[in-house]
Amino acid sequence: MPNPFRVAVLGPKGQCGQCIVDELLSRGHTVVGISRSPPTSWPKPGEYSATACDFSNIAALGAILSEGRFDAVVSAFAPPLSDLKEAYRLGVKGHGNIKMAILRSSYRGPFFIVGGAGSLYYKQKVQLCDDEGFAFKHWYAWPDVHLDYMATRMFDHGQRGFGTFIKLFKWARGNVQNPGWLSWLFRPFANLVLRKARNLLTDPAATGLIMCSRAALTMWEGVRETNWSFLSPPWQLRDKGIRTGKYKAFVDDGAGSAEPGIENGIYNEDMAVAIVDEVENNALNHKHWMCTGPIGLKKW
Ligand SMILES: NC(=O)c1ccc[n+]([C@@H]2O[C@H](COP(=O)([O-])OP(=O)(O)OC[C@H]3O[C@@H](n4cnc5c(N)ncnc54)[C@H](OP(=O)(O)O)[C@@H]3O)[C@@H](O)[C@H]2O)c1
Repeated sequence: MPNPFRVAVLGPKGQCGQCIVDELLSRGHTVVGISRSPPTSWPKPGEYSATACDFSNIAALGAILSEGRFDAVVSAFAPPLSDLKEAYRLGVKGHGNIKMAILRSSYRGPFFIVGGAGSLYYKQKVQLCDDEGFAFKHWYAWPDVHLDYMATRMFDHGQRGFGTFIKLFKWARGNVQNPGWLSWLFRPFANLVLRKARNLLTDPAATGLIMCSRAALTMWEGVRETNWSFLSPPWQLRDKGIRTGKYKAFVDDGAGSAEPGIENGIYNEDMAVAIVDEVENNALNHKHWMCTGPIGLKKW
C-alpha cells in the first residue's frame, strides 16, 4: 500500500470519527469524510475533504467508494440518538446499507468498522448484550465518573431527559450503597428510581445502539469476498479525553479471549491510535477485536 494513504472515514464528525480523522491527518494521511453533512474543512492541519452522502442511498455510496481511489475505508457510523426508539432500526439499516455499498462497489481494499461493546464475548460464549440483566446490571457496576460522562454525552446529543435520568440513577445508587444519616428519608424515592432504571435499561428501546452494533458484527462475520476488521470498543469508551498513545488490543475468539477488557475503558483518542495502526498494518483482517487504554486521567 502507498504511504501516505487515502482514507474514507464514514461518519467523520461523530465522537469516534473525529478522533480517527485527527489521528489519520496527524500521521500525514489524506482523509475524505463521508456522511449526510460532513464538516467541509477540518480545524487541524492536513489533507481533508468531504463528500456528502446519506447511507440510505446504497448506489450513491457505492459509486463514491468505487471512484474514490481509497486505500482504506473506516466506518464510524452510528444512527442518530435523538429518538432512542428508532436507533435499532436506523442502525441496522445504516450498517446493512454500508455493507451492500462496499460489496456492490469495485472497492476491494480493507474496511474497518467501529461497533459496540455489547458484541464482546464472555468465557461462557455469551455476548455482553445477551448477559442476564443487561444493561441494568452493568450500568449499576459502572464507576460514578463513567455515569457522569454518560450524562454529559446524553446532554451533548440533545437527550436531556436521559441525561437527567442518569444523574438521578447515580444519586439513587449512592443513596443505597453509601447511606448517610438522612438517606433513609429519601430511600423510597431512591428505590423507585432504581426500579424505573431497571425497567428502562432492560427495555430493548434503550439498548438499540448496542444491539444494532451487534447486528453489524453478525453481518460481517463469515464474509470473505473482501477484507474487513471489526473493532468493538470496551464498555467505558470516553470522548474528549487524552491521547496517551498507549493501548492494549485483544482479539475476540468468541470464547472469552477479550473478556478482560469488556468492563474496561479507553479514551477515543487512544482508540483512534489503535484503529490507525490497524489501517496502516492491517494485521487483524477478518477478526473481531477490542482495545483498552488508560482512563481516569480526566474528571467529568
Ligand atoms: N462503549 C461502546 O461500545 C461505544 C460507545 C460509543 C460509541 N460506540 C460505537 O462507535 C461507533 C460510532 O459511534 P459514535 O458515538 O462516534 O457516533 P456519533 O457521534 O453519533 O456519529 C455518527 C456519525 O454517523 C453519521 N451518520 C448517521 N446517520 C447517517 C446516515 N444516514 N448517512 C450518513 N451518515 C450518517 C453522522 O454524520 P451526519 O449527521 O453528517 O450524517 C455522524 O458523523 C458506533 O458503532 C457506536 O455504536 C461504542
